[in-house]
Amino acid sequence: MSNRQPIVAGNWKMNGSQADSAKLLAGIKQGQGSMSKARIVVCPPFILVPLAAKELTGTVVAWGGQNLDPHKSGAYTGEVSGAMLKDFGCSYVIVGHSERRSLYGETDQAVAEKFKAAQEAGLVPILCVGELLAEREAGQTESVVARQLDAVVNLAGIAALANSVIAYEPVWAIGTGKTATPQQAQDVHKFIRTRVAAKDAKVADGLRILYGGSMKAANAKELIAQPDIDGGLIGGASLVADEFLAICRAAD
Ligand code: 13P
Repeated sequence: MSNRQPIVAGNWKMNGSQADSAKLLAGIKQGQGSMSKARIVVCPPFILVPLAAKELTGTVVAWGGQNLDPHKSGAYTGEVSGAMLKDFGCSYVIVGHSERRSLYGETDQAVAEKFKAAQEAGLVPILCVGELLAEREAGQTESVVARQLDAVVNLAGIAALANSVIAYEPVWAIGTGKTATPQQAQDVHKFIRTRVAAKDAKVADGLRILYGGSMKAANAKELIAQPDIDGGLIGGASLVADEFLAICRAAD
């Protein structure tokens, strides 16, 4: 990791009641004071965003959504806009998570539109990219990640990446307990940074690229120690305050 400010973001996915989320937020709130450098972000389900806003206001912890609709407002039943997230104090929003791509049919183009809409609403998009196991085994990791990245760059422009975060999440490592090795992750992070640098070296140098996929306290340090890994996007381990805080400390 260079002098880029590390980020550790928790993606709660579809987990949490009001009661256990309040407990989790209280635990994070209690531990966040000891961080000096790392940026901590939590992304609860939409319905728990107001609770996060209530508990985290006045702390150094930021919060965000897990998804957004690219439209500004209107007849889009069941959807939430970037402006709505912003209205509830969100700073970030995850776009293109592999679960959105695979379970809800989000195409590269749809993800790019969400990325652009997020920035237009004043949110920092956390753009997820990553290959399936079959794609890795077929030697397609770089071409898949390049395609996912290029869709965003083609729509939003390379300069837009300056105000964004990228998360490399190999799909085969998500929720499986099977983490990419630090070298496997580093290789893809470096590939992403090099690809961005070919268009804009300054943007590439400042770009935070997070690793996601079974990251936990026990493996966070050696992953984040890699030169192009600037933090983590954490699923399961972000639901336990002590575990999440330990990852934050590893990045700090
Ligand atoms: P896990 O940490 O549970 O593998 O999930 C990673 C992830 O998908 C974060 O967005």
